[in-house]
Amino acid sequence: MQHEKFHYQSLADIQRTAELCNAFLPLNEDVSPLFQPLKIGRHTVANRIALQPMEGTDGLEDGTPGELTWRRYDRFARGGAGLIWFEAVATVPEGRASAHQLQITPANVDAYKRLVAHMKETCLKNNGYEPVIVMQATNSGRYSKPTGTSDPMIAYHCPPLEEPLLDDKHILSDDQLKRFTDAYEGAARLASEAGFDGVDVKCCHRYLACELLSAFTRPGPYGGSYENRTRFLKDAFRAAQSGVGNGFLTTRMNAYDGFPYPYGFGVHEGSLEVDLAEPLKLIGELVDEFHIPLLNVTMGNPYKNPHVNRPYDNGNYIPPEHPIEGLGRVMKGLSDIQHAYPELPLLGSAFSYLRRFAPALASGMVSGGHCAMAGFGRMAFANPDFPCQLRENGGVEKVCMTCGGCAQLLRAGIPAGCIIHDREMYKL
Ligand SMILES: Cc1cc2nc3c(=O)[nH]c(=O)nc-3n(C[C@H](O)[C@H](O)[C@H](O)COP(=O)(O)O)c2cc1C
Repeated sequence: MQHEKFHYQSLADIQRTAELCNAFLPLNEDVSPLFQPLKIGRHTVANRIALQPMEGTDGLEDGTPGELTWRRYDRFARGGAGLIWFEAVATVPEGRASAHQLQITPANVDAYKRLVAHMKETCLKNNGYEPVIVMQATNSGRYSKPTGTSDPMIAYHCPPLEEPLLDDKHILSDDQLKRFTDAYEGAARLASEAGFDGVDVKCCHRYLACELLSAFTRPGPYGGSYENRTRFLKDAFRAAQSGVGNGFLTTRMNAYDGFPYPYGFGVHEGSLEVDLAEPLKLIGELVDEFHIPLLNVTMGNPYKNPHVNRPYDNGNYIPPEHPIEGLGRVMKGLSDIQHAYPELPLLGSAFSYLRRFAPALASGMVSGGHCAMAGFGRMAFANPDFPCQLRENGGVEKVCMTCGGCAQLLRAGIPAGCIIHDREMYKL
């Protein structure tokens, strides 16, 4: 079905469109399943609502959380989500996505320690429990802009993402990749020292580790075969494992990139359909070797096919599909993975599109056993109090309008937030 803007007045309206789009969209008006606790390794999260990592481009030049970073996480902690997945934090300076992306270093680890302690205290005081907090460790690879100008570090030439193709000098050598995997040890050690409960070896949205999963055309030890394409991620996990101490390891992983073979992971060889064979194999290996107690699943690329990553009303182009179709793709992928690994708690993404009906989808997914937790990104910027509101009133007061404003701010390298509900702070 063609793209159209959000116009739903009821769950029945959404259900009808989902049927027309053949989209998998389990809805449950009763949101109480979202307020059941869940075991994640040795932690218990108080509820099934997570805040997804949302980069705010508001760190200091040396990667220390800035004033607006503090404001964001203070509000997130008050809001009552059981789990807060702290945004992308660079593992090496050249892998920062902007001059204001966070980076944890021995020199600033105490600032992170203060922020994490503040988040735990604030949530405890306001909600009666501490959130589980995961730090997302990243290397932006192709999307590196450490000084504010693009300085891509790529795994291979990817025509759907390069028009024209980049100079070969941007292709990372095997030695550089090895050095980058080693950097996850230091990042995990610092994250643990700062008090984060877990570390995410970020493998999504076509940043470096994710891009390597589709490096079919790259020669050498990091490309071609499945074993080679997954080498970087597994080596990064091994490095992080030796640094993480008592914390747990996890990943936010793309189960589907949305680019044709040989340029996409989780994509059928002859079409753009989802093919979970390799993602499922990889997840099984991460469970077996690293005992991941939780997996965060996402899809797409926020630069080239953001409609896959976060269905929207307004963006740079009109998507080739109906937003409900895109939402259904994410939910079906989640459900298939959760059913393949019923013991592994799965955290889902992309719920914000449904606005005030998003909690019903979250509840439908959780109560139906299609995922264990629902993660919200744009909604957290629009209304950081929504988990408390949902718990207390069964509904949310303000919602994300999927206007794309926060993403535009992020791309411009300036502090990102909601330009509608927080407009005193954030303007385009
Ligand atoms: C401004 C902005 C910043 C984001 N930062 C991150 C990030 O640091 N790490 C990450 O994995 N995803 C990031 N995302 C993606 C979101 O976590 C999420 O997957 C996406 O917005 C879809 O979920 P939603 O529908 O709840 O918004 C970002 C998205 C936006 C719009």
